[in-house]
Amino acid sequence: MEKRKLTVASFRKMKNNQEKIVMVTAYDAPGAAIAAAAGVEMLLVGDSLAMTALGYENTLPLTLDESLHHAAAVRRGAPDAFVVGDMPFLSYQLDMNEAVRNAGRYIKEARCDAVKLEGGMEIVPLVEKLVLTGIPVIAHVGLMPQHIQTAGGYRVAGKTEDEAARLLAEVKAFEKAGAFAVVLECIPAAVAGKITQEVSIPTIGIGAGSATDGQVQVCNDLLGLFDRFVPKHAKRYCNLREIMLKAYSDYVCEVKNQQFPTQDNSF
Ligand code: KIV
Repeated sequence: MEKRKLTVASFRKMKNNQEKIVMVTAYDAPGAAIAAAAGVEMLLVGDSLAMTALGYENTLPLTLDESLHHAAAVRRGAPDAFVVGDMPFLSYQLDMNEAVRNAGRYIKEARCDAVKLEGGMEIVPLVEKLVLTGIPVIAHVGLMPQHIQTAGGYRVAGKTEDEAARLLAEVKAFEKAGAFAVVLECIPAAVAGKITQEVSIPTIGIGAGSATDGQVQVCNDLLGLFDRFVPKHAKRYCNLREIMLKAYSDYVCEVKNQQFPTQDNSF
């Protein structure tokens, strides 16, 4: 049976049918193709790209052009997938018109299906404007890596009653503004569960427990490409770093020992 192309409406339907939504980050064409072939429903070209593929220390230095370059590669690798471009720090916070133009580049140039923006009440008018312009939006609340310098690091959000109430109010405001989904990052499971029950748009959690409508993971965590530690919210499904290390080491050995190439690899 031919697989139908997912749209923003598909995700609303999945929430209504209590079918979990699966999202993972992707940064290049082969990674996107493999994730899509495995049945991942949304590919996020996360601004985590800054650390996972580009060697920056955090997400802040990532430029719009770097993000678009990778988003276009993800689209080429997975032509039928639902692809979300994650707008980098300062590509949407300065000026409404510039933000709409920049968001539009994900749609027009990188052929994304939607954009994702981190923020609270201050970006609600922008979300409304983007949706009215025709650009589907996923909001992102809770731990917001673009705010680590004001937050004082990577901290679980929504631990107090006031913070939990603020998060719920933000998600409701995004729902009203037309966002079609929201990412909840690193918030207590009970708070995420309550938000999920109180809004009609799908919630996609990372470090937000099992009651959200979907889950998102950073592919490097899931594949075991990050060797320093496994974040609490992540599960390592394989140790790709070890597999790659062994493959490269074997290659080095075989070239040094003149075991590669053989007749089979020669013309
Ligand atoms: O950039 C990213 O990878 C993200 C996910 C953690 C949701 O925003």
